[in-house]
Amino acid sequence: MLLAIESSCDETAAAVCDLEGKIRSNVLRSQAIHAKYGGVIPELASRAHQQSIVTVVQHALQQAGITKNEVKAIAVTQGPGLMGALLVGVHFAKGFALSKNIPLIAVNHIQAHVLAHLIEHPNIEYPFLCLLVSGGHTQIMWVKSPLEMKVVGQTLDDAAGEAFDKGAKMLGFTYPGGPLIDKYAQKGNSDFYPFPIANVPDFNYSFSGLKTALLYYLQKQNTDFVQLHLADICASYQKAITQALLDKFALAIQKYGPKVITLSGGVAANSYIRTKFLELGKKFNLEAYIPKFEYCTDNAAMIAIAGLHLWKAGKIADQSLVPFVMYPNDS
Ligand code: KG4
Ligand code: ZN
Repeated sequence: MLLAIESSCDETAAAVCDLEGKIRSNVLRSQAIHAKYGGVIPELASRAHQQSIVTVVQHALQQAGITKNEVKAIAVTQGPGLMGALLVGVHFAKGFALSKNIPLIAVNHIQAHVLAHLIEHPNIEYPFLCLLVSGGHTQIMWVKSPLEMKVVGQTLDDAAGEAFDKGAKMLGFTYPGGPLIDKYAQKGNSDFYPFPIANVPDFNYSFSGLKTALLYYLQKQNTDFVQLHLADICASYQKAITQALLDKFALAIQKYGPKVITLSGGVAANSYIRTKFLELGKKFNLEAYIPKFEYCTDNAAMIAIAGLHLWKAGKIADQSLVPFVMYPNDS
């Protein structure tokens, strides 16, 4: 049994998987404390992880029906993420590995989002092209094997999740506003207002201009108009994010010629993006996979799966392990 810990942002999570990659438990505690601030406060996130981590791990072990002595390896998110938040998980895992004399495995959070597909589709065909859309990252990845992936394109400024959350804040929603835009947009007209799509080179993205466009648009409208058309504005804004994401991804499909495409990360929980992504798969006659909701947003099951592959490949960390906030090569 492998125990996995995730604490990179505002979710304290632990999961257990067996050697075949079957998830035996997947426990998550979200930090509601950030909602009133309109974003994650790093110091509060770190304290909340400290308060929750022992209980979350205990629940994960209980739900898996094992004791801590049956854990044969521990995997932990090393980064990218918030330093103080990552430190809690990394130190917990280091202490656990040391006390039980078991392997410690360092997992890259982004790779784990990409590998979340292996939970439900362990025999997925390689190489595949993955669109990874989270609160902190927006990347197109060419995935040659579980441990071999290359960034084909990425955002030059904000991530798609940030565009959702910051746009949502302007519209008066609490953090994280992405799911609320999704909810309101379901009743709105996506052609109500043509928000712009950035024209950036290669397979890259930019969402900062779209955010500013929403700001300027809202400044020009009176409050009653915005309230009356809230659903329409959400639907139009969501459409612009989706189109930006999928137009570039379609170009990458044409260049790389995959047989399988996948959608990962917290924003993959968006109902409109899910629908449009599956339509894109049909259009190009490709197999298209999207994980279950609980494996899209931050979770420890994906850390377990990634950790299992690293463990099997002999990639073991030691007690000198320290978290990283960004990718080591910043790419
Ligand atoms: O992957 P994730 O849980 O954390 C990071 O690694 O960043 O992604 C969180 C992001 C947030 O920006 C949140 O608003 C967004 O995923 N999100 C959504 C939806 N559910 C979560 N965005 C749009 N629609 C949703 N239904
Ligand atoms: Zn994430």
